[in-house]
Amino acid sequence: MSIEATPKGSMGVAMKRKEDPRFLQGKGNYVDDLSFPGMLHMAIVRSPYPHAEIVNIDGSAALKVPGVKAVITGKDLEAAGLGWLPTFHGYDKQMVLAIGKVLFQYQEVAAVFAESRAAAADGAEAVEVEYKPLPVVADPFVAKQDEVLLRPDREAKTNHIYHWEVGDKDKTAQALGAAEKVIKQRIWFPRCHPAPLEPCGCVAQFDTMGRLTFHVTSQAPHVYRTAITIVTGIPEDKIRVISPDIGGGFGNKVPVYPGYVCAIVGALKLGRPVKWIESRTENLTSTGFARDYHMDVEIGARADGTVTALRVSTTADHGAFDAAADPTKYPAGMFGVVTGSYTFPVAHAEVDAYFTNKAPGGIAYRCSFRVTEASYAIERGMDILADELGMDPVELRRKNFVRKDQFPYASALGFTYDSGDYHRTLDVALEKIGYQALLKQQAEKRAKGELMGIGFSTFTEVVGAGPSKHFDILGIKMFDSAEIRIHPTGSGIVRAGTKSQGQGHETTWAQIVAEELGLDPQNIMVEEGDTDTAPYGLGTYASRSTPVAGAAIAMAARRIRERARKIAAHLMEVGEGDVEWKDYKFQVKGVPAKSVTMKEVAFAAYTNPGQNEPGLEATQYYDPPNMTFPHGAYVAVVDVDRETGEVKVRRFLAVDDCGTVINPLIVEGQIHGGLTEGFAIAFMQEIQYDKDGNNLNTNFTDYLVPTSLESPKWETANTVTPSPHHPIGAKGVGESPNVGSPAAFVNAVIDALSPFGVRHIDMPITRDKVWRAIRDSDPAKG
Ligand code: CDP
Repeated sequence: MSIEATPKGSMGVAMKRKEDPRFLQGKGNYVDDLSFPGMLHMAIVRSPYPHAEIVNIDGSAALKVPGVKAVITGKDLEAAGLGWLPTFHGYDKQMVLAIGKVLFQYQEVAAVFAESRAAAADGAEAVEVEYKPLPVVADPFVAKQDEVLLRPDREAKTNHIYHWEVGDKDKTAQALGAAEKVIKQRIWFPRCHPAPLEPCGCVAQFDTMGRLTFHVTSQAPHVYRTAITIVTGIPEDKIRVISPDIGGGFGNKVPVYPGYVCAIVGALKLGRPVKWIESRTENLTSTGFARDYHMDVEIGARADGTVTALRVSTTADHGAFDAAADPTKYPAGMFGVVTGSYTFPVAHAEVDAYFTNKAPGGIAYRCSFRVTEASYAIERGMDILADELGMDPVELRRKNFVRKDQFPYASALGFTYDSGDYHRTLDVALEKIGYQALLKQQAEKRAKGELMGIGFSTFTEVVGAGPSKHFDILGIKMFDSAEIRIHPTGSGIVRAGTKSQGQGHETTWAQIVAEELGLDPQNIMVEEGDTDTAPYGLGTYASRSTPVAGAAIAMAARRIRERARKIAAHLMEVGEGDVEWKDYKFQVKGVPAKSVTMKEVAFAAYTNPGQNEPGLEATQYYDPPNMTFPHGAYVAVVDVDRETGEVKVRRFLAVDDCGTVINPLIVEGQIHGGLTEGFAIAFMQEIQYDKDGNNLNTNFTDYLVPTSLESPKWETANTVTPSPHHPIGAKGVGESPNVGSPAAFVNAVIDALSPFGVRHIDMPITRDKVWRAIRDSDPAKG
């Protein structure tokens, strides 16, 4: 292990060589800041109807608006063979601009190009579209009945998109039939949206040689380049995709959106650069939403609480197009991790997905492809089981945890969990939160009629997609890459196939290289997001960067070390076998005084390499042998006002285990941000549609984003169980707080309401819902 535990460190692990982990690199360069000579702006005409035939589109008035240069429609694109986009996981395709009909409110209908952003917006207003409304299906359970066929363009004449299942159906049914206790609950994880502060945008520019430079807010620039080739036929070598700085992605910036295709077509047609920047409303109403899983959870158990079976049947609302970016073989993502941290001997999970007249998506919002939904289902389910058995939810969890000595653990749904120590992480949480004292206080408060709740979530994640034998997107295997060059004076550059959107790769990638090579991290430049310079990689989402690219970086650095060892031997005039890497330098074995630093070796690599190959560079592609399985124990403490239904989160503790920590400060920042999102999802956010398919949350006054005023104060701690197969033992962490926290919040509220016999409330848990739950369950309050 090159990055080792420092028991005294407050976060458990710190970089040995970096005394101050608060070292951060950074720059500022966003798509919206870009401007090129002759640049045009694009605006999109969007449908006010959720489902309607397009009778006619007339752009003649728009073309009279000063500054407007062109209007394109779905018919124009279809004529050019660009009418439809393939979706990343290959189960569906998506209209670029509406062809024949619209399928959701705010769908893209036409694109207008003009000399200024204002002129483009005026032009879009002037485009006249005649619609003939069609019946709307805004509910997946109605879609199931196939009374209105939403997608006649597809071969299968049904609204059903796919059925996916994993596990042993028959044995699970038998075990549930034989169980001494069975709980069953419909749990809905509502539709929410990543809502990055910077919406999506791009600038498409062709040079005089016909080469496209495409600046775009993409989490996966290389995949975009390949997708642009597939859609437009422009050869990949004639495309350079650059993702500059990105103001948050959270999964929202993984799919290729219609606006991007329109901007490229506009730039090609008009021979000028074209810029398109979404509005907040466009982002919330037409780009990838998340969740919208209706999960029927059944858990079988013995009377003593030992779990015997799990069955989860899900109805998924995918909107108008199945535009999720899941790996090809995983239409429901990693939902199979729904057995969580518990030893279910048998389990069965199935997902049936349906089209509705809503925006497309189903993206992995700060989540390793449906892990958040799975984690929420099992963590709520375990609490309901504890309640019905009259057991402490902590004891029920502890009793059923996968034990430390059971790793690597083969789950009933097919994953092999790499490592974990669930009992220890829970113990740390219980001690830090002071569980016994809280229980005592809760009993005292209850005696006085006050409502206090304590909620747990002891989740396991699966991140690091992924091993090439299972994982691909559009057929491209999900490995990742790194290229490192060390310059003569001992500084260097590392390039990776990932793309940070604020996760701090500029810092952590430099730290990995510095740690492996004994160099100063401040002199390691990190570059990502330019397909002309970075090696091919699948990008950053689903906490895959550290498990995959982080490993590639460590291994590329080790390759460099091996090359450097030869030059060190030459410099010290000994055989290569006599040289060892110790205390961050090369030493002659047994003669510590005789040593050379990597900096000295780097200089020699360009000035005096001897018989060795000059230069000091390496490229590494890394195909992970397995996913990594971070885990955590989260505790929420809430107080509920029985008169108003107001919930106050008094405390929230997150104990995370992401294996070896590269940078404690960055990890803490990841946890704080993700918990704030989890808090918002639990209490404030939902993309709602009325029965007529109208989107009710089109801006930040209706779709609430928590500020520091609403957010609780986060308490964090960690344990370290390194991944056995990752070169530095690191697991991903970015998704954990968003995955783990919703269940802790909801479990705490339901615990607070347990005197009223309340069993479940779907998120977001608003005052109104709490107040009604109290009223409806307590006749005295009615
Ligand atoms: O793929 P993404 O970057 O979103 O997620 P990640 O791999 O979980 O990493 C998020 C940030 O936390 C990166 O800067 C990582 O290098 C850092 N990290 C860390 O310092 N130690 C870990 N064990 C995991 C992540």
